[in-house]
Amino acid sequence: MTAAPQPEILAAFEAAKGFMPVDEGLALYAAAGEAARLGLPLLEVGTYCGRSTLLLADAARAADVTALTVDHHRGSEEQQPGWEYHDPSTVDPETGLMDTLPTFRRTLHRAGLEEHVVALVGRSPQVARIWGSPLALVFVDGGHTDEHATADYEGWAPHIADGGLLVIHDVFPDPADEFTGQAPYRVYLRALASGAFTEVSATGSLRVLRRTAAGI
Ligand SMILES: C[S@@+](CC[C@H](N)C(=O)[O-])C[C@H]1O[C@@H](n2cnc3c(N)ncnc32)[C@H](O)[C@@H]1O
Repeated sequence: MTAAPQPEILAAFEAAKGFMPVDEGLALYAAAGEAARLGLPLLEVGTYCGRSTLLLADAARAADVTALTVDHHRGSEEQQPGWEYHDPSTVDPETGLMDTLPTFRRTLHRAGLEEHVVALVGRSPQVARIWGSPLALVFVDGGHTDEHATADYEGWAPHIADGGLLVIHDVFPDPADEFTGQAPYRVYLRALASGAFTEVSATGSLRVLRRTAAGI
């Protein structure tokens, strides 16, 4: 695993809107740095305002690869008005809908990482259906319903190269700990049960798995 991100990138991560704690961010960065050595792109599902994207982008910059990040930027269920994780400043006053794309772009710009990231704006399964090349890492942090988490796994995990990494966020084995449902945990169990992935590390609710066989 690689070293920590540059102090200014870690500071940008801590200042960015988002939900990922620092220990999980450092584990994500280490996984991204290791996977990037395959010389293939890193892909995130669930950009939100770019907090975790900063770490993938910094690891991508160091390895001269590209970080890809997919989001429709309209927010997950639990981020909608009236729900616990809603941030009113993410609502576009003209449409009345959430739009995290402008904040994401400012986050990346401020950190000087724009040129290392390609933002894919759209629904994850729709983008996955037209995706056709191998990836060094897939980080699943999109919608937390079974429908969304399963679609993210089925859409993107097939593209993970041999030796590449599958990283899943918000894996809560104990239902008492979960805050947005246990769908990511069920995806994690499915990936292990497939025989295609082997666990590498667990940090907080972040799980890092390596592709050690074909399939999903
Ligand atoms: C938990 S947030 C991501 C947080 C981000 N990774 C971070 O650490 O700052 C989940 C994001 O997934 C996006 N999302 C949910 N379902 C999606 C789908 N089906 N396709 C694309 N994006 C989706 C939401 O718009 C939201 O921005």
